[in-house]
Amino acid sequence: MTILVTGGAGYIGSHTVRALVELGRDVVVLDTLELGIRSRLGSTPLVEGDIRDERLVEKTVRKYGVTDVIHFAAYKAVGESMEQPLRYWSNNVAGTISLVHSLLANGVERLVFSSSAAVYGNPEHVPVTEEAPLRPESVYAETKSTMESFLTSCDAIGLRSVSLRYFNAAGASDDAVIGEDWSHSQNLVPRVMKAMLGASGPLQVFGNDYPTQDGTCIRDYIHVVDLADAHIKALDYLATGGKSIACNVGTGMGTSVLEIIDMAEQVSGRKVPYEFAPRRAGDPTTVFADPTLVRAILGWKATRDLRDIVGSAWEWHSHSYKPA
Ligand code: UD1
Repeated sequence: MTILVTGGAGYIGSHTVRALVELGRDVVVLDTLELGIRSRLGSTPLVEGDIRDERLVEKTVRKYGVTDVIHFAAYKAVGESMEQPLRYWSNNVAGTISLVHSLLANGVERLVFSSSAAVYGNPEHVPVTEEAPLRPESVYAETKSTMESFLTSCDAIGLRSVSLRYFNAAGASDDAVIGEDWSHSQNLVPRVMKAMLGASGPLQVFGNDYPTQDGTCIRDYIHVVDLADAHIKALDYLATGGKSIACNVGTGMGTSVLEIIDMAEQVSGRKVPYEFAPRRAGDPTTVFADPTLVRAILGWKATRDLRDIVGSAWEWHSHSYKPA
């Protein structure tokens, strides 16, 4: 019983691979290393290649005796997806179809899919439940919701899947060995760290005139190690006969941009240099999850709080950053 992790050398992928290895599960990673980093994998076997290479997927499934898949491999930058739609549709959508085709042809019938809360767009109600309409507002989000529909339809041909709609993943491993590489990330927490360590100019806070308690946007930040655990629970759910589902993976707690900055200052004892900038196009005001379904179906809930998230990110970034 081996788990194939596509995109396993990426940020969330590598934390999940570690969690699987710690549990003694057999794992093989398929990653192009275009954005993934080999050293995150330790001694876990890596097949370097593309999910669209059906022969390679077939060879990997046979060689390692793959029974289950966690599929992370995808592009994920919202702004870039609007400028380079072909790359996104090709990798995220055509890539997933090709992967599923080779998996089914080789008898693999269980898949955990890396989806996103971005499928909800700007939700009318918070907390967001899975019943909220899917209104993707970027090519990136569109590719994720399209893949969810594709996977649902594959139920009829024997593929059972769990689509995990991640809220805002952040943080690093407890031992500060792996974390989120800020050179490829435009997300808030790595940018706060970058500004705090003097590796960039001041953090731009996008908008301070939102209708929230401090005027900045509210999101549901979830520790990457908790998120990794949700994938393991999803694998176990499928292995015990669970039906295909899509569920939120969030904490149910909303945190503003200024609260993140405040926490970063508390855990580091430093000041975060920041300035207010105009709103970023397309940013919803407030998004946080209703995590009832994931708790009921997968038995998962977040175990780490905001201090753990920001504190682990600080530990990792402050140890791995070497000023020039
Ligand atoms: C992120 C992801 C999206 C994912 C979603 C899950 C990106 C760009 N977006 O969206 O793919 O599906 O989580 O819910 O990867 N902010 C600043 N200054 C910055 C960066 C961010 O003020 O330099 C603010 C943003 O305006 C936002 C909050 O911080 O209010 C979080 O931003 P970000 O980390 O980019 O995540 P989301 O936009 O929520």
